[in-house]
Amino acid sequence: MSNRVTVRPATLQDCRTVWEWRNEQATREASFNTRYIPYEEHKGWFARRLTDPHSRIFMVANAQGRDAGYVRFDLVNQEATISVSIDSNERGKGYGTAAIKSASDLLLGTEPVHRVIAHIRRDNPASVAAFERAGFVLQGYTQFEGVDACEMVYGGKASAGARTNGAQEPG
Ligand SMILES: CC(C)(COP(=O)(O)OP(=O)(O)OC[C@H]1O[C@@H](n2cnc3c(N)ncnc32)[C@H](O)[C@@H]1OP(=O)(O)O)[C@@H](O)C(=O)NCCC(=O)NCCS
Repeated sequence: MSNRVTVRPATLQDCRTVWEWRNEQATREASFNTRYIPYEEHKGWFARRLTDPHSRIFMVANAQGRDAGYVRFDLVNQEATISVSIDSNERGKGYGTAAIKSASDLLLGTEPVHRVIAHIRRDNPASVAAFERAGFVLQGYTQFEGVDACEMVYGGKASAGARTNGAQEPG
């Protein structure tokens, strides 16, 4: 099965879709903040994020052109932290790996950012595998927001040579 994805900046029209993905059980369990987010609260947050110069949200479409997930970056001091969620019906098809790689390459190619950092719960092996397959390199283990996590990095020296591995580029 093809795992090609396309990536585009999110708009206000994507607000509800992103909210539904964010509150899906596995995504909540994978988050450092696991609480349910009411839609009214999400709407305000999403609108602010779309205009925040330190935030980027990308929608990811699958091989059929349907929305399959999103990738979010927080930008601080020429570094970005990444979070990702793939629609529960689209998992295990390579889209997570492709989304992480495509969105990270897009960000590194278009923004003054030299590396992308992922904080992943240690109890989320699927996510660790997806980031590894996308070319992220394990930096070490840490406590992040009180939870055992690993830190993985893409770009800069950390993944030099790794960026040609992993998922296919969007086609
Ligand atoms: C994590 C997530 C983004 C991965 O996306 P995906 O499309 O399912 O991932 P892929 O299909 O690209 O698979 C990635 C790898 O994980 C592996 N994997 C899947 N489930 C796994 C599990 N339970 N344990 C170990 N590896 C697993 C796959 O086999 C694949 O490796 P392979 O290509 O070597 O076979 C997706 O599962 C998701 O949205 N989960 C909920 C939210 C979340 O966890 N976000 C990340 C927070 S850091």
